[in-house]
Amino acid sequence: MTKKLIFQGAEAKVYLISQSSKNQKHINQGLDLIDQREQKLSSIKEGRKFQGNFPEWEKPKSPKTILKTRIPKSYRHQTLDENLRKSRTKKEAKILQKAHSLKINVPNLISSDKFDIEMEYLDGEKLSDSLNSYPEKKQFEIMKKIGTQTALLHENDLIHGDLTTSNIIFKDDKVFIIDFGLGYISTKSEDKAVDLHLIKQALEAKHWKNHEKLFKNFLKGYKLKGFDKILERLTRVEKRGRYKH
Ligand SMILES: Nc1ncnc2c1ncn2[C@@H]1O[C@H](COP(=O)(O)OP(=O)(O)OP(=O)(O)O)[C@@H](O)[C@H]1O
Ligand SMILES: [Mg+2]
Repeated sequence: MTKKLIFQGAEAKVYLISQSSKNQKHINQGLDLIDQREQKLSSIKEGRKFQGNFPEWEKPKSPKTILKTRIPKSYRHQTLDENLRKSRTKKEAKILQKAHSLKINVPNLISSDKFDIEMEYLDGEKLSDSLNSYPEKKQFEIMKKIGTQTALLHENDLIHGDLTTSNIIFKDDKVFIIDFGLGYISTKSEDKAVDLHLIKQALEAKHWKNHEKLFKNFLKGYKLKGFDKILERLTRVEKRGRYKH
């Protein structure tokens, strides 16, 4: 097994875990043997003479996973720090599991323990880095997909808490939402509106060239019961934000 640090944020370190090539070699050898045996059996069943020439066998890629570990913060009181890291880890794991069971696009949870979460590695593009470089049509399609995934979360009362393009990965034409450390469960339109406010702000900050159209396309996918009430709340959240500044 190899463990490579791929991201260090304020709260967490993220490692990419790959299976060692030695293990993979043994697995591949085993798979080759199974493949040969199956071919031999089917040729016997069909009355063909077994030739011994096997078609190209596509070796499975070694499965990669992500290990996200929440790091201690020295400026916080030790007990408080541990409790906070534990509760965020637990919450994130719980929401990942719940969202995955609802067929929402999130990484599959593998395991979680104290400050660590192991999950499926999404080998795609982080939208904060890539969205601006796509043709406009593709940007709009992606925004609509983000809207659809967010509506699914909200329909099930799952609030993300940090909905920005840094927490969305685009892979195989799908958008996947990650980083549920600030997530929680709530039925309130206010909390759902705050998620919308966060994504809107992220678009204004990082994708400012056409942020209005991007958000419009987000809303095209954001279809759910209570839409009007959430949008009305969003207006209030925004007014409050302006007042604060
Ligand atoms: N399942 C995953 N597949 C691929 N990359 C991931 C995955 N999870 C996290 N990452 C990568 O690690 C980065 C950080 O992960 P995450 O967003 O969950 O942590 P974070 O809470 O934002 O960290 P901080 O708040 O300290 O900035 C992501 O932006 C992404 O690049
Ligand atoms: Mg993040």
